[in-house]
Amino acid sequence: MSTDTHTTHDAEDDARNRNIKIYVNGDLVHRDDAKVSVYDSGFMLGDGMWEGMRLYNGTWAFFDEHMDRFFESCKAVSLDVGMDRAGIMDALQKTADANGMTTDVHCRLMLTRGVKVKPFQHPSLSRTGPTMVIIMEHSKPATALQSKGIRLATVPQVRGLPMSQDAKYNSHSKLNCVIACLQAEQAGADEGLMLDPHGFVNTTNACNFFIVRKGAVWTSTGDYCMNGVTRQKVIDLCRANEIDVHERNYSLVDAYGADEAFLTGTFGAQTPVGEIDGKPIGDGNRPVTARIRALYKELVEAHTA
Ligand SMILES: Cc1ncc(COP(=O)(O)O)c(C=O)c1O
Repeated sequence: MSTDTHTTHDAEDDARNRNIKIYVNGDLVHRDDAKVSVYDSGFMLGDGMWEGMRLYNGTWAFFDEHMDRFFESCKAVSLDVGMDRAGIMDALQKTADANGMTTDVHCRLMLTRGVKVKPFQHPSLSRTGPTMVIIMEHSKPATALQSKGIRLATVPQVRGLPMSQDAKYNSHSKLNCVIACLQAEQAGADEGLMLDPHGFVNTTNACNFFIVRKGAVWTSTGDYCMNGVTRQKVIDLCRANEIDVHERNYSLVDAYGADEAFLTGTFGAQTPVGEIDGKPIGDGNRPVTARIRALYKELVEAHTA
């Protein structure tokens, strides 16, 4: 197995992150002192929802889209957020101000069902109201992967059917994805490429997945994968810029034979894929990925100017 592992969340080291303040239910505390109860529903059961967002020039990129997804999934599991979008914006601002952060910041906003009175599953045992935690770090994605590309391995762990644990929940419990990532790592790759229950290529354990064939961009139908904010922005950008884009079923044969492949996610924007299951993808030239990356960068800049 290679020791030169990468993740799509590789960031440049920033010493300032050693002393950041974390928001815990309205308090701002040094990261070493930021704690939740061992009875917390998130710790015990993974019973919570989260969002990853980025701050540029004092503006949270695509805040409305992230909040749409967050409030929708909290509603679906009867998790009372306890505040509205303006309240969340205030909490984010308070955290950013406490840390003197204005740009190149990554945030993980987490909400759980709160502290339980007994160490059991039933949601009615969570009686304190939700626990909200906001971790913000100074964060610039490492650039090494842009030339090299990430290595994927197809893994035995598949995406679930929506009536088991819908993949559209950005839930604290990510065990399905964690198992996929472990399998990829054991196969000597950086991240796992996951199939849907029918065997079509779906997504990776942490990002959405796209291929490029003869200038056209393909991604899964959107069933079984996270409804990624970045995924949708890429599809919209393709449509607005006359790049052929298809949400469709396709197999590993199509992926191995692609001219280019890339991942999308809030953190890394678009990350090129170098190889899948040891097979190099294309010839290393990635004109369509580069164009989409440039268009996305312009979009973020326009949104956060
Ligand atoms: C499994 C999975 N896929 C994809 C994504 C990317 O979504 P987004 O573009 O909204 O960051 C995430 C991020 O939370 C994820 O957890």
